[in-house]
Amino acid sequence: MAPKVLVSDKLSETAVQIFRDRGIDVDFEPSLGKDKDRLAEVIGQYDGLAIRSATKVTEKILEQATNLKVIGRAGIGVDNVDIPLASKKGVIVMNTPFGNSITTAEHAISMMMACARQIPEASASTHAGKWEKSRFMGVEVTSKTLGVIGAGNIGSIVIDRARGLRMKVIAYDPFLSEDRATELGVRKVELDELLAKADFITMHVPLTEKTKNILSRENIAKLKKGVRIINCARGGLVDEEALAEALKDGRVAGAAFDVFAEEPATASPLFNLPNVVVTPHLGAATTEAQENVALQVAEQMSDYLLTGA
Ligand code: MLT
Repeated sequence: MAPKVLVSDKLSETAVQIFRDRGIDVDFEPSLGKDKDRLAEVIGQYDGLAIRSATKVTEKILEQATNLKVIGRAGIGVDNVDIPLASKKGVIVMNTPFGNSITTAEHAISMMMACARQIPEASASTHAGKWEKSRFMGVEVTSKTLGVIGAGNIGSIVIDRARGLRMKVIAYDPFLSEDRATELGVRKVELDELLAKADFITMHVPLTEKTKNILSRENIAKLKKGVRIINCARGGLVDEEALAEALKDGRVAGAAFDVFAEEPATASPLFNLPNVVVTPHLGAATTEAQENVALQVAEQMSDYLLTGA
């Protein structure tokens, strides 16, 4: 009998086609990820579950997943899956670490530029017919120092694009070797130096026990005056309350956030502050990235289910 896969999030139809072409019996139910009770009812029928970020694979789901062999996350972060429990039950969890990196790096650069030139506020004001030409004074990024926290897959693409914009780039990443830093054209620094020197800071690390609250109240107090902070990585890396205070008293000049401690974020201390650009976790939201991750996750899951590889 053909293995059965459930797609419970909005994945590109490319994934469904690949599963079919590979001889997998696939059900495409993109609204199921938000319906925990129904998902728990049906999950027992499936060998594979393909998700993005809306489906939360919790204990309740895994308890009912009696046939499940593989969970495929079309994207990078697997923080919506209870990995320890999945591993205990012998369920493999796979992601697609490269499919959306360029898109996410481009979003971080866009957010930095939007923040430097106050584009969202200027756009809203112009749409409102105000023509406030003298209100929106920006800053150039050329020759400014960009501090990159995390120089892995996405961080290294951000570094490349920022160097193209003629920024000076420094990076904090305990896993970055001197050779790799030289190859990337960055100076490797300790976190305190980055906090003190950067004009812009962008984060590209997963949320772990080590990175949680990396921009804590204490670290926010160490920032260079007038810095702008970009977070297109994960909510929880920054103390949003402390950052809001620093924005209000002018120590921080701006912020651009795509991710929040609580998501979906319908409220945040950062909302409605001037010079704060916010987007609803759109880092991976391009046609190209969604095609890439859908294709990759479907191929990987099919390989595993059909050949165990
Ligand atoms: C990811 O982890 O791949 C990104 O945050 C994108 C997403 O979840 O939509």
